[in-house]
Amino acid sequence: MPKPVITKAVKKRYYRNRQFREKMTIEKKTVWWNGVWENKYGQYIGRHRPMYKGIRPYLQGHILDLGIGVTDMYVEGQDITGLDMSTECMRIMRQRHPWGNWVLGDAADTKLPSASFDTVVLANILEHYKDFTPLIYEAKRLIKPDGTIVIVLSLENYDVDHVYPKWDEEMIRTKVTSHFQRAEIELYDERWWIIRGYNKNYEDKLQTKNSN
Ligand SMILES: C[S@@+](CC[C@H](N)C(=O)[O-])C[C@H]1O[C@@H](n2cnc3c(N)ncnc32)[C@H](O)[C@@H]1O
Repeated sequence: MPKPVITKAVKKRYYRNRQFREKMTIEKKTVWWNGVWENKYGQYIGRHRPMYKGIRPYLQGHILDLGIGVTDMYVEGQDITGLDMSTECMRIMRQRHPWGNWVLGDAADTKLPSASFDTVVLANILEHYKDFTPLIYEAKRLIKPDGTIVIVLSLENYDVDHVYPKWDEEMIRTKVTSHFQRAEIELYDERWWIIRGYNKNYEDKLQTKNSN
């Protein structure tokens, strides 16, 4: 498994960020967690951008992104609902992407209807929680029986508020994929674990497809 390179410069940045972060309100912190800023063309850049290419192929149908933050991963025409607890993130998303459905709420208790999404995304959010099972349970409640839950876990852990510092395959199997009947794990760009979890009817769907 690739290890983050912790140079002196990175450590210095970490301590500077930590002092800076301790003074932050939760609103500021949630925007900071996203690690995004705008370039001169009005595009977002930042540490999560390279992940888009890795997960876009899995984003199908009616999509729900839990803890969406600020992103330009989705494009007009996609059927996307993004939810975040940060009012500032949702304000930015509504302003920049008025075509999407941006919801302020708690990803562990969304109040959205059960079995209503084809894809539920949990990207770079589980790392912030010691016990993230409520988020996985909520995603499982919201996904259609033949839908896909896409989970992204970042390996960039040295200067952000991650509870679990080093994810490896064994940890993923015990803590994450054990919640699914079937799951696929891939390491993308040596920086993210991309996990796809399937609900019970996925096997039936495959069988029907194969027998047709
Ligand atoms: C590191 S950012 C990731 C943003 C985006 N998913 C990405 O991958 O670029 C984590 C986001 O999760 C949001 N978040 C954390 N816990 C949440 C919760 N319980 N309910 C809703 N949003 C939450 C934060 O506000 C923040 O915007």
